[in-house]
Amino acid sequence: MSILIQNIAHLFGILPAGVERLQGKEMAHVETIDDAWLSIEEGRIIDFGPMSSIPETEHFEVIDAEGGSVMPCFCDPHTHLVYAGSREQEFVDKIQGLSYAEIARRGGGILNSVDLLHRLTEQELYEQAMHRMEEIEAKGTGCVEIKSGYGLSTEDELKILRVIRRISQASRVKVVSTFLGAHAVSRAYKGRQSDYVRLVIDEMIPAVGKEGLADYIDVFCDEGFFTPEETARILKAGARYGMRPKIHADELAASGGVRVAVDHQALSVDHLESMPDEEIDLLLGTATMPTCLPGTSFFLNMPYAPARRMIDRGLGIALASDYNPGSTPSGDMKFVMSLGCIKLRLLPEEAFNAVTINAAYAMGLSHDYGSITIGKKAHLILTHPIPSLAFIPYSYTTPIIRKVLL
Ligand code: NIG
Ligand code: FE
Repeated sequence: MSILIQNIAHLFGILPAGVERLQGKEMAHVETIDDAWLSIEEGRIIDFGPMSSIPETEHFEVIDAEGGSVMPCFCDPHTHLVYAGSREQEFVDKIQGLSYAEIARRGGGILNSVDLLHRLTEQELYEQAMHRMEEIEAKGTGCVEIKSGYGLSTEDELKILRVIRRISQASRVKVVSTFLGAHAVSRAYKGRQSDYVRLVIDEMIPAVGKEGLADYIDVFCDEGFFTPEETARILKAGARYGMRPKIHADELAASGGVRVAVDHQALSVDHLESMPDEEIDLLLGTATMPTCLPGTSFFLNMPYAPARRMIDRGLGIALASDYNPGSTPSGDMKFVMSLGCIKLRLLPEEAFNAVTINAAYAMGLSHDYGSITIGKKAHLILTHPIPSLAFIPYSYTTPIIRKVLL
């Protein structure tokens, strides 16, 4: 049956069909109808308007918003949420003065999660990850990108990607998958980085490609991890299997990853906490969406990406959670929105567009998700009554969600 939502105090995030992303000054506007209704058929938005023009309600199942607001669900275009266990000991180590990079150099960090994951069956890993999926769905995430990268052997990377596929079949949240075999060099290949890169190119990518397990390919292009030259070779190999790049760059140091991303038509280039100013120019006029992860800077006490400068220079940006056990054990996109405003100095409207339409773009989904547009999927958040859009990031720990419609 068709659904009609009535008495919506603010219907936020309306865009005309065909808008793939917002850039520069466009990001500061969120089209809104006050006192609105919206109708849904077969899971898609079919119409909306002011309450003065509400259609006859008898053909609909009616949901009364009771003065709450409606907005598109959050899209989270960068997570590593299929992981085993947790790493709170490193959290304590960091409080006591170790840095994220030092922990990694001592053989901890990502490799700890790799050891934990190796011991789990696919079913156990699935159950742990599904638990996190339920958590983010309740917090309003309607689309999520999930990366592999805690396997670092062909067998364990496939295990993660198969779990992601099962999640996407079982969850109402829309899921896209990314192969991140080049997340770190495994313990078995310690001191043999170039052999590990060959393993990724010659064995992992063909195996992933053959099963069609990944939409995208990622490399942790950063100091102490993979070089731009290695990144380029891996992305080229992925392209042969139709995996478009979405890469990690400039998290720990200026890595040269933005150049590689642009050269390989990456859909997004993510992190950018240590991005030098010249790299902003490299991104202008390209299809690559810079994606900032302020939760990572917050949790690791690191610098924040120059998001304000990017927007002022005319770029669009997306925001993502980075949900993972080491640098960001949280997938709360409302909090990410708050950090976007408080730490990246985005206006609430810019932060809103960064977690909806631009985030959908950064995972290749903006044709179907990320805005209130006739024909798009009705992945919607219905809030308790809130006074304004700015109240969403302002109320930075208040739960405002009444219902998530997927
Ligand atoms: O995006 N930077 C690389 N990967 C993750 C962290 C992985 C981990 O510490 O487990 C990130 O921050
Ligand atoms: Fe990440």
